[in-house]
Amino acid sequence: MSTTTPPRLGSDYRRITVDPTTPIIGAEVTGVDLGAVDDETWTEIEHAFSDHLVVFFRDQHLTPERHMALGRRLGELHVHPAAPSLAGYPEVMVIHADERSKVVAGNGWHTDVSCDERPPLGTILYLTRTPSSGGDTMFASMYAAYDDLSDTMKAFLAPLQAEHASRHVYAGRYGSKEGDSRDGSFPEAIHPVVRTHPVTGRRALYVNRAFTTRILGLSATESRALLDLLFAHQENPKYQCRFRWQPNSVAMWDNRCAQHFAIWDYFPEVRSGVRVSVIGDRPS
Ligand code: SIN
Repeated sequence: MSTTTPPRLGSDYRRITVDPTTPIIGAEVTGVDLGAVDDETWTEIEHAFSDHLVVFFRDQHLTPERHMALGRRLGELHVHPAAPSLAGYPEVMVIHADERSKVVAGNGWHTDVSCDERPPLGTILYLTRTPSSGGDTMFASMYAAYDDLSDTMKAFLAPLQAEHASRHVYAGRYGSKEGDSRDGSFPEAIHPVVRTHPVTGRRALYVNRAFTTRILGLSATESRALLDLLFAHQENPKYQCRFRWQPNSVAMWDNRCAQHFAIWDYFPEVRSGVRVSVIGDRPS
């Protein structure tokens, strides 16, 4: 029942400098031009990514091509099932809020598109316009949330699976996308409540407020009560860090073991950028 610090896979950095945000989650990485990363530098970034779950970079200048090339270092790029993309770049999702916005992306705890059969393993967000204050993104370690559970609760959760749905998230916000290969349908998937990270081998709680709708094999009342308990547990500030954006900052987060929450406290100011996500494996 103790929160453990992630194993340090690559603390011996030669090309980059890594400054942890908290012992649990987050690190600011300096000494990198993400638009021109060589293989050795990328290996170090990947180690920092594994160790810290989300890594932050300042003063970056990414074209859509370079942004996509960076994402492809992690794997095949994901196309969001509902959100708007940059013209001519279906893999580059637009994140934008201004005085006309009624909703903004990510304004609640979630992991990206966990309603997909193979949800994005990671996301790289690049913001070019930020409000004069506010607009921070919070991140939370689901390793730490899992580690802190009692052994009895871990044993109870181990065989459980949960439904992740998206209609209630996307329908009011985006409608169905023009020319969507999914034909206007909204993805749904069943995933384990606890997943094992394919790189670190660590276990992480894998339910989130946005997409997880019920736990299979429990009554509706039991499922609601257990999800509410897990959601409240995940939101302990001890598992969190908070990133203050500046124009041209980049955050790269691991959706397999971290959740995030984009705080919309800056209305009517503008916050704008683009993100790419990378298709992950089927959670197991
Ligand atoms: C998201 O991708 O969930 C939005 C994150 C953000 O805008 O900070």
